Amino acid sequence: MPLPMPSDNSLTTHETLESGHHSGLSGRFDVPGDKSISHRSLILGGLAIGTTQVSGLLEGDDVLATGRAMQALGAEFTRDDDGIWHVTGVGTSGLVSPTSPLDLGNSGTGVRLLMGVVAGQPLTATFCGDASLSRRPMARVTDQLALMGASITARDGDRLPVTITGSETPLAADHTSKVASAQIKSAVLLAALNARGTSIVREPTASRDHTEAMLTHFGATVRSHTDTDGTHIVELEGEATLIARDIIVPRDPSSAAFPMVAALITEGSDLTIPTVGMNPLRTGLIQTLRDMGGDIEITNQRVEGGEAVADLRVRHSQLHGIDVPPARAASMIDEYPILAIAATKADGVTRMLGVEELRVKETDRIAVVADGIAAAGGEVTYDEDSMTVTGGTIPGGITIDSQYDHRIAMSFLTLGMISDAPITVSGCGTINTSFPGFADSMNQRGAALRIGRLS
Ligand code: S3P
Repeated sequence: MPLPMPSDNSLTTHETLESGHHSGLSGRFDVPGDKSISHRSLILGGLAIGTTQVSGLLEGDDVLATGRAMQALGAEFTRDDDGIWHVTGVGTSGLVSPTSPLDLGNSGTGVRLLMGVVAGQPLTATFCGDASLSRRPMARVTDQLALMGASITARDGDRLPVTITGSETPLAADHTSKVASAQIKSAVLLAALNARGTSIVREPTASRDHTEAMLTHFGATVRSHTDTDGTHIVELEGEATLIARDIIVPRDPSSAAFPMVAALITEGSDLTIPTVGMNPLRTGLIQTLRDMGGDIEITNQRVEGGEAVADLRVRHSQLHGIDVPPARAASMIDEYPILAIAATKADGVTRMLGVEELRVKETDRIAVVADGIAAAGGEVTYDEDSMTVTGGTIPGGITIDSQYDHRIAMSFLTLGMISDAPITVSGCGTINTSFPGFADSMNQRGAALRIGRLS
């Protein structure tokens, strides 16, 4: 049975868009549901006993790919006309081997979390994805899953396609991750659900904790603390039973980042973005933009469906450059491309430090962002783990290839709003990965995105 699909949307399905000057963004801007929480609600809902009702799910390509994969593994999904998803789970050891490869498209989160799920159960699945995902390293997850008892083969050592045969009796994990990565942590925790005893994951600083929060919500026992040296430690009691519980997905702070920066850097803007997730492990960009002088008012802070949310009011501001410390990277790892765009309009120099993880995202985001800003006429330098942008005038008048990276596409469409000549972005279909309706929503609030032509 095909996964229930949301209706299509117009402008963002066009591959090439051109972005030009406008007179500011104003009004209320609803961004879609949180991508991280949406993936987890379909995965954990599928591993729970009973039916989980999910409202506010992000119906973007990445999450739908995870849904199709969970469906192939035995979970069941229906969708109301009003957009509420009903996920009927099979329990933590009730999945079945899929009959064909699981295609996770562009989604690193989907593929890595599902590798963890499969590794903890006696079944075999092959994982594949698009050109971008097929270039990304998987050893960071598969090495640990092999230690827990899974049999794993991969192309060129650790690239997709990857085939995993999970273990009926996975060993508990004691894993120390070199990087603060929620994808690594989550894969290990999901594989450990059927292990006997306590599994431990240590990370150098805390990464987003949505898996831990949702596992707790579904009845698992999860503890976490931070040591005096900053190491973040998560413990999970194995042989867990998950019981279905309803989920309200907050709006995605990583998607809110685009209208937020667009409003800050374009004159005349006064935008309200309601019900944005305010998990402190996700709000590094808001803190950084405020440190740069951004007028971002956080109002109506509240808890909805167990998640902290707030309304953001963002007004045009003259930003100034700052040093963004490495310690902040985990809390805004997906936001550096759009921060670099904000920095082109700031007075002085913005240095983004300790951001080597950007090199293994959907693209090598240090190189792609910096080369794109340079091509548009901006001043930027970079090395292995940092990027420095000096504010000034951006001539624009160029075409950027998104290279299958949704955040690259949206970042350069945002740059086109302040460059002297418009910027054209090709490969905009990838925006549906995380932000269906992006271009239409931007235009409804005052932006000037048009179907573009490659000259
Ligand atoms: C995510 C974790 C982050 C982030 C990604 C979503 C998640 O990746 O970049 O977009 O939902 O767990 P890493 O954990 O690899 O840093």
